[in-house]
Amino acid sequence: MTFNIDEIRAQFPILSREINGKPLAYLDNAASAQKPRAVIDAMTHQMSHSFANVHRGLHTMANETTEEFEGARAKVAKLLGAPDASNIVFTKGASEALNLAAYGLAGEIEAGDEIILTQMEHHSNIVPWHFLRERYGAVIKFIPVTERGELDMDAYKAMLGPKTKIVSVVYMSNVLGTVNPVKEIGKWAHGAGATFIVDGTQAVVHRRVDVVDIDADLFCMTGHKLYGPTGIGALYGKAEILDRMQPFNGGGEMIEDVYETHVTYNDAPHKFEAGTPPILQAIGLGAAIDWLSQYDSGAIHQHEMAVYHHALDGLRDIDGFELIGDAPEKGAVLAFNLKGAHAHDVAQILDKYGVAVRAGQHCTQPLMEARGIHSTARASFGIYNTLDEADRLVHAVKKAATFLS
Ligand SMILES: Cc1ncc(COP(=O)(O)O)c(C=O)c1O
Repeated sequence: MTFNIDEIRAQFPILSREINGKPLAYLDNAASAQKPRAVIDAMTHQMSHSFANVHRGLHTMANETTEEFEGARAKVAKLLGAPDASNIVFTKGASEALNLAAYGLAGEIEAGDEIILTQMEHHSNIVPWHFLRERYGAVIKFIPVTERGELDMDAYKAMLGPKTKIVSVVYMSNVLGTVNPVKEIGKWAHGAGATFIVDGTQAVVHRRVDVVDIDADLFCMTGHKLYGPTGIGALYGKAEILDRMQPFNGGGEMIEDVYETHVTYNDAPHKFEAGTPPILQAIGLGAAIDWLSQYDSGAIHQHEMAVYHHALDGLRDIDGFELIGDAPEKGAVLAFNLKGAHAHDVAQILDKYGVAVRAGQHCTQPLMEARGIHSTARASFGIYNTLDEADRLVHAVKKAATFLS
């Protein structure tokens, strides 16, 4: 399908909203993206046409719903380049996927074992590893981030050693926008005998990913940033890694047999999906993947970066504007500060002009500390954003700079 921005925007009912008497310019896509009619309709259709619990019924609607649910798993597998749908565990988001990864591998961690993360991780890829530090004595090391927002690869290579058990890194930073060289990072991790985990939450929205090519052992994503619903995400895992991992939640569906004396588990991915799964959310995610896949990922990237650069060119002229993150390989995330102004005040003024951005630490406190800043404002662009919205961002930031100086 050709990339026609008006045709794309027309598919998002919410984009015609006004905020404070101004047309909405939604630039908070890294936090959560809006939903196209195709996703809304797929979920509504399922609820109004064919709905039942999955896997356990013998009646028609149970089978139909199971087919849609398992079909969504296959769509996630295809999106990520996974060899098979059985490599995909549904979770309620990226955070749960990373918690599952940490919990699942915890049985292999001994005191003194090392886990390597980066300073630009989201808290979702830090806190689960702190659990392993607190409970099993693991040691966490952080790859430093340079001034421009790139990983210090020499420091990383120097950290690797016989105690390295896990290397878990973000593919695309939700603050700096940096796209990390995950393939190279993974090669070095595997060379040290470590399990290699990738937080693909932002990357999967903005570029074509291939978990086999980057040789990730585990890879996580979330649905609501990919124009899908909340409450659904996925953990991809190589079959041998998923077999090795201990289950996280116990209950129905994740078992093979349950006795008074012991229990045996179902195969992956079901071993990790206790109870009734997020059926409608998974079907909504499947619809989002179908919807997004009709557009060329290269064309989406080009469009988003054109909007990003247009905004940046205008913002650079504003006195006191500071861009946070200027890596040569980056996606359309524009974190910034205005000298002397608090990011929250900037975001509140922008809202008066209908421009929605996020402000704060973006769940990356170690990154903020490493850069010696408290917070940032952040405009993050998606498939439906326009050059006009970039102009409106610049206009509103100019006003904020005037009011707050
Ligand atoms: C890089 C990254 N990882 C993980 C997450 C967590 O995603 P979720 O809140 O959907 O679990 C986010 C959300 O902002 C993110 O940007």
